[in-house]
Amino acid sequence: MSPTNQSLSQVRLKATIIDATHLLRAGKGTSRLLPVFLISKLRTSSRRKKALSSIQEFNSVRDSLDLSTDWFSHNIPRWNSVFTKANIARNDSFSILEIGSWEGLSACFFLNYFPQAKLHAVDTWEGGDEHDGMQSVSMAEKRFDRNTSNYLSRVVKHKGTSDQFYESFNEDSFRVVYVDGSHRAEDVFNDASSGFTRLEVGGVMILDDLLWKFYKDNENNPAIGVNKFLSKHKDSLKIIDVGHQLYLQKIREI
Ligand SMILES: C[S@@+](CC[C@H](N)C(=O)[O-])C[C@H]1O[C@@H](n2cnc3c(N)ncnc32)[C@H](O)[C@@H]1O
Repeated sequence: MSPTNQSLSQVRLKATIIDATHLLRAGKGTSRLLPVFLISKLRTSSRRKKALSSIQEFNSVRDSLDLSTDWFSHNIPRWNSVFTKANIARNDSFSILEIGSWEGLSACFFLNYFPQAKLHAVDTWEGGDEHDGMQSVSMAEKRFDRNTSNYLSRVVKHKGTSDQFYESFNEDSFRVVYVDGSHRAEDVFNDASSGFTRLEVGGVMILDDLLWKFYKDNENNPAIGVNKFLSKHKDSLKIIDVGHQLYLQKIREI
């Protein structure tokens, strides 16, 4: 192994140990994710190669969008394998719930990948704690509108907090729920719990930023909220994959 490769492996190993410790520290619910997290780490590069075509397929869409950031595209290989594993058929007609849409990049992925699906996009379009001082916040909603304008008949926009959405909207159940709104532990717990209630049995829920260590007080970080959610619902779900995001399938009604 060359010295550069060796130091790269050391950096990766160190990062894996830090992330594994983060999952352990958050509690029993997230500690149970460790075996899947570690096995999945070993599979990352082969999965990336296999999913190259799905990334390329989306690149041309992404390049046509008006974006100031791309916090999403690196997730595509895992999303591809998770939807396949969960038997979510690409051409079925169903509803998707996205909490946190920002400029519409992940929304456009959903709308492309599932060409018959309807997307409910929930956002304040005011940004979260991590967007403080970012100039692009003031443009995020306009960009979302522009970027999703090709899919108008399949997008329902809900402007407001996720709490407001869950209180007022009861019309649909969802085959896919993506939780990527506020990253405060308490909000993550609420978004995951309410999203899981509306998720169809057999449906997939994706929780973003499981391993994010943004808040100095660890109690506010997403893993704490995810831990609480997993401890409550462990008997009704199956873990599909664990990385920076958590992927799970609902296996029975709660
Ligand atoms: C990380 S961004 C979403 C990125 C998007 N999913 C993507 O990959 O393209 C998080 C979004 O959550 C929104 N947000 C923050 N707190 C929220 C809340 N309580 N309810 C709804 N949306 C919220 C922010 O306005 C921001 O647009």
